[in-house]
Amino acid sequence: MIAWDAEKSLGWDMVDGGQQLVIEVANRLNSADAATCAAVTEAALEALEARLVRQFQAEESFLAAQRSPVLAEHRKQHQALLNTLSALRVALRAGHDVRSRLLMTLVAFLRTHLRSADPTDLAPPEQCARAA
Ligand SMILES: [Fe+2]
Repeated sequence: MIAWDAEKSLGWDMVDGGQQLVIEVANRLNSADAATCAAVTEAALEALEARLVRQFQAEESFLAAQRSPVLAEHRKQHQALLNTLSALRVALRAGHDVRSRLLMTLVAFLRTHLRSADPTDLAPPEQCARAA
């Protein structure tokens, strides 16, 4: 079970909400039983794709407005996750059990992106200036 950590909040509802959704979905996937696994996984993929596309667009617009040098890499990480979610959806519809792969993907994305790249890359410019 993964818990939302308020100390990880970026103070940007769009981004914090996405991280909370990833945590909720990971916990649902982890606790789903065999009877509900496929339905829980399909609902999870739909919720994640709908929500994260909007979040990623907002983040990338912010980075573009800042003329951030990390925009390309940040966008690449977003697209890699969306590509994986899409591939898992195709596999699920073909009858494969993708719950474990989706769960591992989300935990890795939480660790490497939502709690690592996002806090670093999305820091307001004034924070960057203060850190320099
Ligand atoms: Fe991001």
